[in-house]
Parts: sequence; C-alpha cells; structure tokens
Amino acid sequence: MSKFKILEKEMVVPNIYKFVVHAPEIAEKSKPGQFVIFIPDEEGERVPFTISDWDRDEGTITAFIQELGVSTMKLAQMKMGDHLEGVVGPLGIVPEIKNYGTVFVGGGCYGIGAVYPLAHALKEAGNRVITVIEARSNYLFYNVENLEKVSDALMLATSDGSSGNTGKVHSILEELGEKVDKAFFMGCNFMLMMCSQATREHNIDTEVSLNALMVDGTGMCGCCRVTVGGETKYACVDGPWFNGHEVDWDELFKRNSQYVMDEAMAFHHFSIGCRQDEEQGRVEKSTSKKE
Ligand code: FES
Repeated sequence: MSKFKILEKEMVVPNIYKFVVHAPEIAEKSKPGQFVIFIPDEEGERVPFTISDWDRDEGTITAFIQELGVSTMKLAQMKMGDHLEGVVGPLGIVPEIKNYGTVFVGGGCYGIGAVYPLAHALKEAGNRVITVIEARSNYLFYNVENLEKVSDALMLATSDGSSGNTGKVHSILEELGEKVDKAFFMGCNFMLMMCSQATREHNIDTEVSLNALMVDGTGMCGCCRVTVGGETKYACVDGPWFNGHEVDWDELFKRNSQYVMDEAMAFHHFSIGCRQDEEQGRVEKSTSKKE
C-alpha cells in the first residue's frame, strides 16, 4: 500500500480543496516556494502543486488544489483515508529568503494558500511583510488567519468590492504609497503578468512562480519550457520562480493553451462517466431498497 495517505481533505472555498497528505520524507526537506507532483492513481497524470505547508513532526505536507481538469477532478473526488498513487518532491528552486526590507507578497486562487510558507519565511528573515490576496468575491477567501499571523499588513482585494479594496493585487500595489524592496507573486499566469507589469513601473525586483505545463517535473520531457530574459529555461528545474520582468508571457500563454481542446474533451468524457456511475448507483440503490 502506498504511504501517501490523505489525512485531511476539505473544500475550503468552491473549487479549491485543502489536502493534508502523509509524506514524511518530503515534509522533512520542504522549503518555501517548492512544489510536489501528485499522481492520483495508476493511470493518472502527474500534476504539480505548491507545497503550502508542512509538519516535520507529523510527517505531513499540505497543498491547495484547484479543480480544473480530469486529474484535479479525480483528486477532488478522493476522500480522507484514501491513498495517492504517488507524490514526488520536493521539487523546484527555492527563492532567496533574506532581509530585503519591505516585501510585497501577492496571491490569488491557489496562491492564497500557497504564499503562506513564503510569507512566513520572509517574516522570520526580518522583513516587513505586506501580503495582498485577491478573489472575485469575499466568499472565495481562505487561509486568512494564517496569513494574518505572518504578515505585518494583510489586505484583501475583491473584484466585486464585497470586502477589502475593490480591484486586484496589482491595483493595490499601484496605490500602496509605500516603498517596496521586493515582490513575490503566486496565482494564475494572468495575475503574475499584471503584477509584474505594475512592479516594473515602480522598479521593484519581482519573482513569480510560473504555472507551466509539466509532465515529469525533473527536466527530462521539455514540456515546461519557458523563455526568461531571452534564454530557454525549464520551470520544473530552473524555476518555478523567475524574474517576472523577463518572462516571455506571450509564449507562456500560447504553450499553456495548446491542449485546451483535448483537456475540455477529456473533462467532458470523464464527467459523463461520473454521471453514469452515479445514475447506475442510484438505480442499484433503489433496486436494493425494493428488495
Ligand atoms: Fe518535463 Fe519540466 S516538466 S522538463
């Protein structure tokens, strides 16, 4: 039996799940900003997720998983007590943690959960940590208490103005009125690009955790190729952290959209299969009741 038992699984907000998985060897070596690859079952894809917390004593790692395609849907259907087929990691380069002065840490979607260890480490290194998280509406925020503990200031940005400032992480940054020495961002690539454009205008050194397509996660397949500063890099082994001002965003968006149709078809077929199984289950249940 695999040792990667799911010890906790909870939907923290619609479409985002918190997983706490028993993986002591990975917990032992995890550092802020690194990621793992989850393999849900024998036929499952390898899917990368940022390590959002760990407990070396308990031998656990935490990841926040956004349900986006077939593999994440399979994960979302797993229950506490189930076992993952595999977990690979920790992977990726660790961003430099030191006292920069004032650091701005921005997170959106899965990044609201994922920025926590980074903000924590930066705070411990003596920085003034300004954390800003964004969501479409206030019911989509999670992990707020943890972020409050490791931030000197925590600000919320909502698209609909339901809490905090109306806008996005990059709009708060533009209106901050405080000198920032370094910025880190985690979230969708569009958010990373917008934030990088905002920091470029203010001459703030910026690192972003890129979301490139990955297969093996060990530099062998070439799938996660990105161009940064005119050079070819592989997000899994050279990143995922890169200078946001040097990323070729157009290329990244093009590469990431290559399989959109295949992913949509796979999701459609998988969803139909799930519905048929559910309906079959209902028929069997009602049959057994009659008996
Ligand atoms: Fe294969 Fe990075 S995922 S080279």
